[in-house]
Amino acid sequence: MDSKSYLKGIIPFKEEIPHEVRLLAPVHQNKILINGELIHWEGKTQTVYSPIPVRGQADYLAEKQPLVIGSYPIGTTKEAGLALDAALKAFDSGKGEWPSMSMKERIECLENFTIRMISKRDAVIKLIMWEIAKTLADAEKEFDRTVDYIKETIKAAQKLQTETSAFTLEQNFIGQTKKVPYGVVLCMGPFNYPLNETFTTLIPALIMGNVIMFKPPKQGTLLFEPLLDAFQKAFPKGVINTVYGRGRDVIPGLMQSGKVDVLALIGSSKVADSLKKMHPKSNRLKSVLGLDAKNAAIIMSDADLDLTVSEAVAGALAFNGQRCTALKIFFVHKDIREEFIRRLRQEVNKLVIGLPWVKGVNITPLAEPDKPAYLLECIQDAIKHGATVINAQDGGGENYESFLKPAIVFPVSKAMKLYHEEQFGPVLPIIEFTDIATPIDYVTNSPYGQQVSIFSNDTQAISTLIDGLTGQVGRININSQCQRGPDIFAFNGRKDSAEGTLSVDQALLAFSVDSVIAAKQTQQNGTLLNSIVNNHSSSRLESAQNF
Ligand code: G3H
Repeated sequence: MDSKSYLKGIIPFKEEIPHEVRLLAPVHQNKILINGELIHWEGKTQTVYSPIPVRGQADYLAEKQPLVIGSYPIGTTKEAGLALDAALKAFDSGKGEWPSMSMKERIECLENFTIRMISKRDAVIKLIMWEIAKTLADAEKEFDRTVDYIKETIKAAQKLQTETSAFTLEQNFIGQTKKVPYGVVLCMGPFNYPLNETFTTLIPALIMGNVIMFKPPKQGTLLFEPLLDAFQKAFPKGVINTVYGRGRDVIPGLMQSGKVDVLALIGSSKVADSLKKMHPKSNRLKSVLGLDAKNAAIIMSDADLDLTVSEAVAGALAFNGQRCTALKIFFVHKDIREEFIRRLRQEVNKLVIGLPWVKGVNITPLAEPDKPAYLLECIQDAIKHGATVINAQDGGGENYESFLKPAIVFPVSKAMKLYHEEQFGPVLPIIEFTDIATPIDYVTNSPYGQQVSIFSNDTQAISTLIDGLTGQVGRININSQCQRGPDIFAFNGRKDSAEGTLSVDQALLAFSVDSVIAAKQTQQNGTLLNSIVNNHSSSRLESAQNF
């Protein structure tokens, strides 16, 4: 069977979808959460289509009518403005109920939220799968990893609280330095990890006492519907407010108001750049950003090829390459290039292309409707400039509906889009090199600097690469693919790839600022401070011990 017929054959009739993974009815998300109220939405709505093609009774694929899985509000600047007002009121210049609560009380709210969130696990997972075609197994992992992240964040916040509550005596001063919230945080996550990456900013921002305006990604909105009730019930009013609508319509006004204190965005550097510029108070605005990446794998001549190929396949093709940390370009030493490509092709050909609920499936439909056309354009551009799709005979680069069979493209050169652009999809560009300076120059001259992977066992080569690349990227992986986890490791990037660091511990610092209370060390001041602490008369100046 040719590849296209195979892809066509994968597409199920509705009746063939196993009962346990079906969406029993479309999810019409018709509420917005503002100022603690779930307000019924009467305005325009956005219909949500699944990227998973499904045949109706009359094979409606032929008519190109994808499956409707729900709808959500297309909010306007009016509701965005109300969300901002509610957030400002809840923060109340730092005197609101939420920022004034003790860490213990905020943690109780978060624990309450987590219990409610866990009770919605199945619904959220199913929506992740239907909205972005992530495999069921990976959608489950995303949910569970997010719950773990919340639990780890709670532990880290407790530790931070203990460490910062003591008084310090220094040069005849009594001082106490605590982390306090900035204020209003605008949180926007990406489609590829809609729950996890959104929560890796939203949760630390919350726990540190900030208030949130939260805009879900365009693809990956419905999955938050089951959680709205938990947000409403677990937190005081105005602490979390939703912003729906087209980003280009509703976000500029929020930024131009000058009242957003932190922009937490996981998305493109172009968007981040333009949003930051809209804010009239550039010194007030803090940014926590996870942006573009074009992570390179550098494969030296002595690399262990079994391990390298297996890491390359997982690194480039997990979730169809739609990960910011995916390996997006391969530099392979001339001496092993042929053998590497041969084995890579073999392993890529073993991948199972299919529907997200199928056990063991690797490649699923692409989440963004225009992505297949873009990737085909990149492949054509590479061919025009002299490259070949190495696995074309296996169907590499074949597209049907939202499916695209992974394509291995060689030799890639500077003239090609695949050399420069972040493809964010199942295409593996390969470049041959002899001089180690070639990959080092590539990473150095790249506008991005998230991570690299080095494959070798040669001490000298690895040392040269580590020293050559430390100033360019946030993380160097040795004999393993690029990745974010473990979540306790710093996750950041250089150049246009990130601003700020998002490990469990460091995210708490990214969403808080030092507040120092200081007094000359006199008996009178000591008595005064102890009295404030003992009478609990200040929510800010609390301490486990007198000074
Ligand atoms: O899309 C970017 C994600 O943060 C990557 O996370 O490396 O664990 O897949 P991951």
